[in-house]
Amino acid sequence: MERATGLLDFDRYRQFIDRVAPTTSVLMFYFMGEPFLNKRAYEMIRYARQKNIHVETCTNGDFVDAKGIVYSDVNDISFQIGGMTQATHEVYRVRGKLDRVQTNIIELLEERQRNPRSSVKINVGFVVMKHNEHEVPEFLRWAKEIGVDCANVIDPCVRSVSEGELLLPSDKRYWFYNEEAFACGVLKPKYLPDNECTWIWNSLVVNWDGSVVPCCRDPNGRHVLGNAFETPLSHIWNGDDMQTFRRRVVTEQGKLDICRLCSGYGVPQLIHPQQVDFEIKRLTLDESKLDVPMDPIPMRCHQSTKNQGN
Ligand SMILES: C[S@@+](CC[C@H](N)C(=O)[O-])C[C@H]1O[C@@H](n2cnc3c(N)ncnc32)[C@H](O)[C@@H]1O
Repeated sequence: MERATGLLDFDRYRQFIDRVAPTTSVLMFYFMGEPFLNKRAYEMIRYARQKNIHVETCTNGDFVDAKGIVYSDVNDISFQIGGMTQATHEVYRVRGKLDRVQTNIIELLEERQRNPRSSVKINVGFVVMKHNEHEVPEFLRWAKEIGVDCANVIDPCVRSVSEGELLLPSDKRYWFYNEEAFACGVLKPKYLPDNECTWIWNSLVVNWDGSVVPCCRDPNGRHVLGNAFETPLSHIWNGDDMQTFRRRVVTEQGKLDICRLCSGYGVPQLIHPQQVDFEIKRLTLDESKLDVPMDPIPMRCHQSTKNQGN
């Protein structure tokens, strides 16, 4: 990642939440970092919950404290597992400890049981990659056995053909990239949105230092639209830079670097279903639900475009 890393400051966060709470329905308390490296994460989440904001979080699970999670009153937490053995887990989750993550999940399930007023939904996620694809059935068996609410089997994102060659599973059902193009050395999603995006009208991303970027496709902060700790968010939301960015998305999306590898699917859930017994979700593109043709033009190989990662 190109931008500086750091920890969100509690006071600046609190002032920010005070300002945005009246017009915010969902806070996704994570981005590219690990939320629970911040010792005050539990208080921060609780603060937003007290302002009636629905809060979801996502974690590598290594540092999660069960009591803290129940105290935070977070609505939804997703633990990300990288494999069902330590060897496969740590390929992507470098220096992560699978047994520690699994213990933390079980402790949270037990803590929720002890606190009937807690309504936290506990999810586990598994990004399918070449080195762990054979473990998907075991992941689902384990998730059901320990009694989580939802197990997500997630199609992997990669940034370049070379990364794809290293990480993409051999089972192409887990791919959301165009296979024919990939074989020709070009990385592109099966479906590329054509001057359309739901995210830009519903959400934005605030980094730890307050800098605002349009969406999660901008981890490096290439399109900073302002600083939410210095300028009211409404000014940024309606500001010239944001308007220009939206206009570009709806007129010349193909020229925007951060849209190039985005298939556009998945919008923040603004209405939340009741907790169910057990649910399996595939975070993948359902091609049958698209009303646009899927890349009807056959790909030709252009070696010069090879390995252009995002
Ligand atoms: C970037 S992580 C950050 C949150 C947290 N620190 C974590 O490790 O999950 C946010 C989400 O991205 C997902 N993710 C990470 N790498 C991915 C990849 N290569 N393809 C698809 N999803 C990925 C994670 O599984 C998680 O759901």
